[in-house]
Amino acid sequence: MTAQQKVDALMMLKGKQRITALTAYDYPMARLLDEAEIDILLVGDSLGMVVLGFPDTTHVTMEHMLHHIAAVARTQPRALILGDLPIHSYNSPSEAAKSALRLREAGAEAVKLEGGINEAEKIKAIIDAGIPVIGHIGMLPQHVLEERGYRKKGKNESSAQSLIDDAQALEKAGVCAIVLESIIADVAMRITSAIGVPTIGIGCGDATCDGEVAVITDLLGSYPWFVPPFAKPEAQLAPQIIAAARAFRARIQHSLTQ
Ligand code: KIV
Repeated sequence: MTAQQKVDALMMLKGKQRITALTAYDYPMARLLDEAEIDILLVGDSLGMVVLGFPDTTHVTMEHMLHHIAAVARTQPRALILGDLPIHSYNSPSEAAKSALRLREAGAEAVKLEGGINEAEKIKAIIDAGIPVIGHIGMLPQHVLEERGYRKKGKNESSAQSLIDDAQALEKAGVCAIVLESIIADVAMRITSAIGVPTIGIGCGDATCDGEVAVITDLLGSYPWFVPPFAKPEAQLAPQIIAAARAFRARIQHSLTQ
């Protein structure tokens, strides 16, 4: 399937079947998640924290993204490969299009960028360059330092209305879906019914959006040092990894050299 066919198929799911998206940053995980028939493999800039050990996503560079997108793309998945545009890579419409083209060359089939109405011209420039775009509104991790933390959005009517305006502006600019992050459940539902493209939620409550995205380490319980309050782990890999490494250590230390 071409990237555009994958995008068209995803857009058709709105109102019919919920979309599933998980982050993947390397080849083996991308292969396993594709085997599980996840719809979107997001090479997210959460990479900065859960793989590269930075405190937040503001340290992620274009080179980091290209390296990990290429690893995921080598799996040639059935899923759509979505790459995050890192901070400072889309300061103007022409820079946004140029950066998106670099992500596409590395293997991304669509790109995601953070922000509302102010990003509309950049989104149009990327789409004009032939690359599908997914928007991202609500809590914006690339703004965590200005905002001094990860805060819930849409708590009062004026912020709820501006999120709805943002979503409608992104739809008008041509996005094929929008990630809603940490938005009050009722506002996430209002946004979902106010636009014709799918919404994909994270931290917005259960079944408030047309789909759900999760950071893979939150799902697997493999990054125990920071677990967001909305995470719903399906496994606890961290203790299993430590136990396996301890078993290896014990086996090697207790066996004599021949
Ligand atoms: O980078 C990422 O993992 C993301 C998700 C939080 C949606 O953008």
